[in-house]
Amino acid sequence: QHAKLVVDKAFELSPVSDRLFGSFVEHLGRCVYSGIYEPGHPTADADGFRQDVIDLVKELGVTTVRYPGGNFVSGYRWEDGVGPADKRPNRLDLAWHSTETNQFGLHEMAKWLEKTGGNELMEAVNLGTRGLEEALDLLEYANVPSGTKLSEARRANGADKPFNIRMWCLGNEMDGPWQLGHKNADDYGKLAASVAAGMRQMDPDLELVVCGSSSHSMETFGQWEETVLDHTYDNVDFVSCHAYYQPENGDMASFLASGVDMDGFISDVYSAIEAVRSRRKSNHKVYISFDEWNVWYQGCEASRSPEGIDNWPQAPHLLEDVYSAADAVVVGDLLITLLRNVDKVKSASLAQLVNVIAPIMTEPGGSAWRQTTFYPFALTAKYAHGAVALQPKLESDATATKKFGDVDMVNAVAVTQSDGSVTVFASNRSLQTSAHFEIDLPEDTDLKRIDVQTLHEDDIYAANTKDEQNRVTLHRNDSVKVEGRHTLSVDLPAVSWTAIHIG
Ligand code: AHR
Repeated sequence: QHAKLVVDKAFELSPVSDRLFGSFVEHLGRCVYSGIYEPGHPTADADGFRQDVIDLVKELGVTTVRYPGGNFVSGYRWEDGVGPADKRPNRLDLAWHSTETNQFGLHEMAKWLEKTGGNELMEAVNLGTRGLEEALDLLEYANVPSGTKLSEARRANGADKPFNIRMWCLGNEMDGPWQLGHKNADDYGKLAASVAAGMRQMDPDLELVVCGSSSHSMETFGQWEETVLDHTYDNVDFVSCHAYYQPENGDMASFLASGVDMDGFISDVYSAIEAVRSRRKSNHKVYISFDEWNVWYQGCEASRSPEGIDNWPQAPHLLEDVYSAADAVVVGDLLITLLRNVDKVKSASLAQLVNVIAPIMTEPGGSAWRQTTFYPFALTAKYAHGAVALQPKLESDATATKKFGDVDMVNAVAVTQSDGSVTVFASNRSLQTSAHFEIDLPEDTDLKRIDVQTLHEDDIYAANTKDEQNRVTLHRNDSVKVEGRHTLSVDLPAVSWTAIHIG
């Protein structure tokens, strides 16, 4: 089987937004507690942050971090998480049926982000149980320099300078019936419009994300986007997309082609944005924030929340999916899909960062390790952060799927950096067949330095675990051949993800 990509630097798609390599830290299970924050852990610093996790977060190349939820935010009172730690209350977290101790809050997050290399905070406000007033309070607390009740409270709590948070999510998944304070599109659109306008009265240049659909398959999908954007269009900058994929009824072939759904989702949402924009004759541009995406085995036991009026555990083991080599190939393919759409997607967050459907896992009191999905994310961030994505000129043989029909067997995209280097990312979605992949490069490309890394395992279910932490990693792909003055070929094994770096 065969595929060919033509790399032409004259055909730029768009610069890759710094925010494309975002992640997500929710107060959920062990993402925060015993994930990033564990006072008493052998590697914990004076603030209780695990240094082993900080090191892995840096290696992962994460840029923005969305916080504090997720479903959690729809019942969250941000004030509980600031001030002296011994005065912070325990609260019920209704989203995940847990006890929130509030030992970690906004100040801790801001401090942690400084230690991970200055990542940008993307803060969500609660539009489930709360509304305009509480959103304004949080904004005053976070962004007003001094001289008012809440800005002075922040200073008294140890943050002299404002947090200056630029990007804000107006609630989370408000279209989902599971969401605390779930609303219909009209009610949510009106609320989001008034919150957006109010927040801008305080800080006009904020970048605001309005909730789109929780998945492409929501019954209200499409209509939801149009109604919400009709209310909010000129006051928001992004509409969110969320998508989680898993094999359905063991259908691995369709699962490997999940990028086809993500691609369609992006183009459908962008059409809705453009439809509203043209109807309103607006010059204002709204983009997509794909602020939750990943593989998630939602139906599995690990995803079930605790139950019972007397059972609200602290930081329980929740959503601790163990990812396989095949899952990593899908994550790599989804990253390629995001890169192919960087003209429409200006922000994205892998959900989530640590322990909860995460690339990084930890043992309480013990070690931290990389899941299989860590590798495609880290290498894509390394080569594509700061790059320009090129228009994908790809021809590929097809592979058959039940869900999407015949799809391109090879999915690929090229990016170029200002130093002239080119990186091609490619996935082979076929379950059985390897692909001969040809890359036609610009004539002036120096083919002397080529590095090809592939993630592939003959056992596609192989995974990294506490006891075998490095079972699945990247391997150098030695099949690369220079075929002509500016043509390369690489063999892409079945179920594989590859990065080809030239320069
Ligand atoms: O990331 C896990 C959950 O998935 C989030 O809390 C929610 O927004 C989504 O449904």
